[in-house]
Amino acid sequence: MTRNMAEVKLGPVNSIPPGEGRSFAAGTEKIAVFRTRAGAIFATQAQCPHRGGPLADGLVGGTVVMCPLHSWKFDLATGEALFGDCGVKTYPVRVDETGEIILTI
Ligand code: FES
Repeated sequence: MTRNMAEVKLGPVNSIPPGEGRSFAAGTEKIAVFRTRAGAIFATQAQCPHRGGPLADGLVGGTVVMCPLHSWKFDLATGEALFGDCGVKTYPVRVDETGEIILTI
């Protein structure tokens, strides 16, 4: 069975300061969206796979986020764990011509 993909609008990209993350509810999923200082945008599951830490509150360096609770690190592009035992789910996300964040879920 294939699952339908849906695009969800999450508001203006300017609501996320460069170098920070914000969490959003998209349907039943909680998603963390990150805007890097270089202006790239990424989306991952909102909760850290270790003990549920809020990844959107983590420290963003380049394209890596560090969980605020116990410092596991994740590559925002791939979801791969750079420090820690298990990676995170990533989602396709883009900014449209009006500056709106569009998440595909
Ligand atoms: S909850 Fe994220 S590293 Fe422990």
